[in-house]
Amino acid sequence: MRTTVSGDLRPTLTHLRADGVSVLLEHGDDLLPIVRHWGAELGELSGEDLQAVALAAQLAHGDSPFDVADEVTVLPEHARAWIGRPGVEGSRQGRDWSPAFRTTAAPERQDGPDHQRVLTRAVDGAAYLSVVHELELHAGGLLRQRLTLTNDGQEGYAVGRIRLTLPVPERAGELLDFTGRHTMERIPQRQPFSAGVHSREVRTGRTGLDAVHLLCAGEPGFGFRHGQVWAVHLGWSGNQVSYAERLYNGARLLGAGELLEHGEVELGTGESLTTPWMYAAHGTGLDEVASRFHAFQRTQPHHPSRPRPVTLNNWEATYFDHSMPRLKELVDRASRVGAERFVLDDGWFGGRRDDTSSLGDWVVSAEVWPKGLGPLVDHVHARGMEFGLWVEPEMVSLDSDLARAHPEWLFSTGGRVGLASRQQHVLDLGHPGAYAHVRGQLLMLLRDYDIAYLKWDHNRYLNDAGHTPAGTPGVREHTLAAYRLMDELRSAAPGLEIESCAGGGGRVDLGVLERTDRVWASDCIDPLERQQIQRGTFLLVPPELVGTHIASGRSHTTGRRHDLDFRAATALWGHMGIEWDLTSCSEQELEQVATWVRLHREHRRLLHSGAVVNGDHHDDATWVHGVVAQDASEALFHVVSVGRPSTTGPHRVRLPALDPTQRYRVELLRPGQEPLVAGRGVVPWAVDGVVLPGRVLAEVGLPVQPMLPEHSQLWRVRRAGG
Ligand code: DGJ
Repeated sequence: MRTTVSGDLRPTLTHLRADGVSVLLEHGDDLLPIVRHWGAELGELSGEDLQAVALAAQLAHGDSPFDVADEVTVLPEHARAWIGRPGVEGSRQGRDWSPAFRTTAAPERQDGPDHQRVLTRAVDGAAYLSVVHELELHAGGLLRQRLTLTNDGQEGYAVGRIRLTLPVPERAGELLDFTGRHTMERIPQRQPFSAGVHSREVRTGRTGLDAVHLLCAGEPGFGFRHGQVWAVHLGWSGNQVSYAERLYNGARLLGAGELLEHGEVELGTGESLTTPWMYAAHGTGLDEVASRFHAFQRTQPHHPSRPRPVTLNNWEATYFDHSMPRLKELVDRASRVGAERFVLDDGWFGGRRDDTSSLGDWVVSAEVWPKGLGPLVDHVHARGMEFGLWVEPEMVSLDSDLARAHPEWLFSTGGRVGLASRQQHVLDLGHPGAYAHVRGQLLMLLRDYDIAYLKWDHNRYLNDAGHTPAGTPGVREHTLAAYRLMDELRSAAPGLEIESCAGGGGRVDLGVLERTDRVWASDCIDPLERQQIQRGTFLLVPPELVGTHIASGRSHTTGRRHDLDFRAATALWGHMGIEWDLTSCSEQELEQVATWVRLHREHRRLLHSGAVVNGDHHDDATWVHGVVAQDASEALFHVVSVGRPSTTGPHRVRLPALDPTQRYRVELLRPGQEPLVAGRGVVPWAVDGVVLPGRVLAEVGLPVQPMLPEHSQLWRVRRAGG
């Protein structure tokens, strides 16, 4: 890690540098910062150089529609010749809707051990508004910024939008972002960065199964390993917008902000609103972008430091069947194959025997668990595992004691509770009574049982989410309350881990990840679908924070059948788990699962600390991804046949990110299988492995051992001795 600040700075220019990234900020003419450069590191620049770089960045303003250059700050202002989307939208009963902020002092530097920080204060005295802009460049090269807006006037200020932006150069001609749906999250979509606005808006109160995830602009055709890419992400779990905007003058911005409903926020005198962090990463290829997000998360104080316990979740094994003998047998088998945590999913509370009732009644069902959860928890502990429990604290069923006692705690507007979804509604955690109820019941559970982990689910979109009875919009308050509840539970039960699940991967963002320990990437664990889902999720979230489970032989969500080796090899990469009814497995299958769990545990340190890499391949039927140790001493690669190639093989796979000057031994790993014997259908190197320089592996690669479609193979790479 290297973070440096160039010396000899003139007051208006700040050059931040970290691990291959430069950010050049200009504070001129009392403006909020103009980002003169965000991208590849510019090296050591003297104060004089910096002034020259800033000068060279300025455009002629002959073509500007105004008599000034149409420059844009991090908070675009119409008052300053920006005719695109403004940074602040709001008004004081129709006035003060076009603020023009002027800085009040020189920018402040507030560097920390892992980051450089520039703080800028500005006011608009005529509109009675002031802002504080914070920008940080972290070790690892991740940039983030946020803004606090304060109402200095005597009358309320209704905030519509606050969007922060970053410029990208004209060569960023192509956009990539993500969409998706239940059981199919993180589907990439590409398009040219054309004039106008490409806007991705979330109005459903959670990040979304179709979340934008990362909004990237890059050199056309950019891939995992090539082409410069600039990417942004909003660290927020509620309504939001991410957008790319291109204007007549060639300016290209990436922007993001919370999406507030009309009347959602009115700042009283002296009141402030702070935006979520907008994160930004630049890199050569998407792998480098991802490495910056990973480096940031890995240095956060709450990032889990102990090995991620292999988890068995009973959901797809038993669904709502919580019969004790069956669960005990599942626990026994989980411990036999090497699981380290057992999670009891939905169905343990109130009258919840299916998904039609009882959300909100977070009390152990006496009908199903006459002696409470104690006997199961003890059994799990006796087998040397941790115990985890599923909850869905933000939800309420109409058929629940909670809804019957407090219908006024449900979100509603216009006298309607909104549309039902999965036969459930949303509890307004912004209501103090509702918040206290859920908090109290969850704390009681944490007090009564030794619970190491909560799987925090959120199975529906918010719709008509207004505070009852007034009906005023409540998503922002709810989102903040959900965060607060997670924070309070964690501080009341030190060591408690939380998983962010939302009908699969519907709440995967750096806001929720500030207080959770992993995300559930998808309800789909079909290993074929998981290739794309995990590849997309890993672009933002490091693998140790992404749940990846071994599926049943026949996928519950797609009906496809896959060999156990492909299912296990796909689950190997993240926070590994099992979501299969082990009580139905043969002895041989149990042995095979145990072998894969052992392999994961053996490589867990590498998998959860190394750099995630992906190959850019011409052959769409063969994908390769892997993890390379930060010192490039070892790596593990997964070569996956996602379809049938149109040409016969053998197809070559190039191995990226190794040290080109070192020699490596590459071996085909066949966990639990007989070694390959030379002969027909076997690529010769795969029999005993091969030693090659990193440069040859990256440039020439190795032929893939022929395999059937929807199968995969593991290649272990270690620096060769001597
Ligand atoms: C949706 C989750 O994504 C599943 O894993 C499971 O926990 C169910 N909810 C339980 O209702």
